[in-house]
Amino acid sequence: MDDLIWYPGHELILRSIVRAEGPWVFDAAGRRWLDLESGVWAASVGQTHPRVAAALRDQFAAIAHTGFNYTAPVVGEAAAAVLRVLDLGEGARCTLLCSGSEAVEYCVRVVSGLLPRPRLLTMADSYFGAYGAAHGRPADRWTTFDWFGCEGCPADKPCDATCERFATIPLAETGAFVLEPGSSSGFVRFPPAKLVEAIAQAVQAAGGFVVVNEVTTGVGRTGRWFGYRHYGIVPDAVALGKGIGGGYPVAVAALGPRVAARLAGPPAYAQSHQNDPLGAAVLLAVLGVIEDEGLIARGAAVGARLAAGLAALPWPAGEVPAMRSRGAMLAVDLAGGPAQAVRVHRALLDGGYIVGLRPGTATLRLDPPLGLGDEQVDTFLATFSGILRT
Ligand SMILES: Cc1ncc(COP(=O)(O)O)c(C=O)c1O
Repeated sequence: MDDLIWYPGHELILRSIVRAEGPWVFDAAGRRWLDLESGVWAASVGQTHPRVAAALRDQFAAIAHTGFNYTAPVVGEAAAAVLRVLDLGEGARCTLLCSGSEAVEYCVRVVSGLLPRPRLLTMADSYFGAYGAAHGRPADRWTTFDWFGCEGCPADKPCDATCERFATIPLAETGAFVLEPGSSSGFVRFPPAKLVEAIAQAVQAAGGFVVVNEVTTGVGRTGRWFGYRHYGIVPDAVALGKGIGGGYPVAVAALGPRVAARLAGPPAYAQSHQNDPLGAAVLLAVLGVIEDEGLIARGAAVGARLAAGLAALPWPAGEVPAMRSRGAMLAVDLAGGPAQAVRVHRALLDGGYIVGLRPGTATLRLDPPLGLGDEQVDTFLATFSGILRT
């Protein structure tokens, strides 16, 4: 029956996942895997968390969905909780949506209607979801800045017109900077702070806007509440998804005061499940779990333990991989190329561990649940070590 559905994955490997618990997924025969990818990086608090499951069950039993002219108290409570942790400033507003793609689309669409200059700027290796302009990024409106050469830039070299590379950015035509502060669907790269800050400063000083795509980097994935908190910037709009629903499809488009104040009223955007009480209740429960269980700090600790452990694995001489990480968002570029990545990925799967493999590349990705235990990290590392020895 799997043949009746088109799956986006390059290969359907596990066909009979029937249940999950925390970081584990189980097949029909009771075999289990530790999911170090958190599904598509979404199961931030692990799966079937009792508090989230109860919120979902209770809210569905009370009211799941309302018409546009009605609402339930839980929707306002969820908005207040999100805006409190985002802290975009007095006058910020948000809308609850259903996917990360939609949240990015909403933010980009709203900001595009207010641009003081016609172009939108983003960084190479970014992903903005499945929809609309932000997905296609037509060259007549978008500039994609290739910043890879900036990674080794000397600390004392300024990001200004004196830098040949920086001078290629058409800032005079740019009305918005759309930033993914860590390329999750790409190669897990983190743009340098001075570059991001210089662009954001120039764009906002000229009356433009900074939109941050936190769909993957948000709610603790990078060791801080949001990926943009690694930069000295204050965004004007933030898209949240994935981890904020813990696996349930709820997302948020948050507009900071500079954007909200320019709108005469709610943006012209409507879909049937916008601001649904059910998504609001799940979101509220997930945020509550993250705060009450200290998962921002725990995610940072999990990531640090994984990063240190991966670096210390018995890599064959001359085959130490390139690794990148920020909090619980990690990538390992295997020296043996895509063929080795497929072998290691499959061996880990056989050993009971799910990690991400970027198809056709040598890059393995790890985005584990934020509350993973030390013992689980260590058994994974021991299995990985065994694979390298054989
Ligand atoms: C950075 C980023 N933005 C947007 C999206 C789209 O989110 P969704 O697949 O929930 O629509 C993704 C999904 O992988 C993502 O990683």
